[in-house]
Amino acid sequence: MHEDVARVLISEDALRDRVAALAGEIEQAYEESLAGITVVAILTGAVVFLSDLMRHLPYRMEVGYITVSSYTGPVVTSGGAKLGVISLPELRNRDVLIVDDILDSGGTLRVVQSVLRDRGPASLRTAVLLRKPGKAPAEVAADFVGFDVEDVFVVGYGLDFDGYYRNLPYIAELKSERYGRSPDDA
Ligand code: XMP
Repeated sequence: MHEDVARVLISEDALRDRVAALAGEIEQAYEESLAGITVVAILTGAVVFLSDLMRHLPYRMEVGYITVSSYTGPVVTSGGAKLGVISLPELRNRDVLIVDDILDSGGTLRVVQSVLRDRGPASLRTAVLLRKPGKAPAEVAADFVGFDVEDVFVVGYGLDFDGYYRNLPYIAELKSERYGRSPDDA
């Protein structure tokens, strides 16, 4: 275990198994999509989840991405998501699947879902690896969820603290001293 990690919440094996199972759920939902699907990843946090998930999906597939900065400090998430780079293929009349790392307050998905809906897809669904239950408003929902997690700041498997720890192969909580302040102060 990395020296900055207080505890592992989701192990590498559990991630591998659940991502494969989630891909099975997604495959079933799109079995009528003969023209293929368009995956839109929210970067950078979704990068590891995307690469593992998409290799389980047998569809003809296009991939685009949007970068979003969604939190004002290193730990505090905010409702105010700001879009950055948008690199998307044509979405009109396509079956579109958003792939994100975590549904927390819902600020990020609210903005991204709205921007993509405006492009006229045939359908729009969302897959998230993690969800903190009860935090996002009901209208900002994910169709496919890997794991519900407790409301602590998590890192690893693409998720960062201040730009680091994305390469940890598991989902973990950092030691409180790594935050420079208690996470309870956030
Ligand atoms: P919202 O609050 O907009 O959050 O649903 C979504 C984005 O904020 C980041 N985020 C986190 N990143 N650990 C992280 O490393 C967390 O616990 C966490 N909560 C939110 C993340 O980029 C996500 O896409």
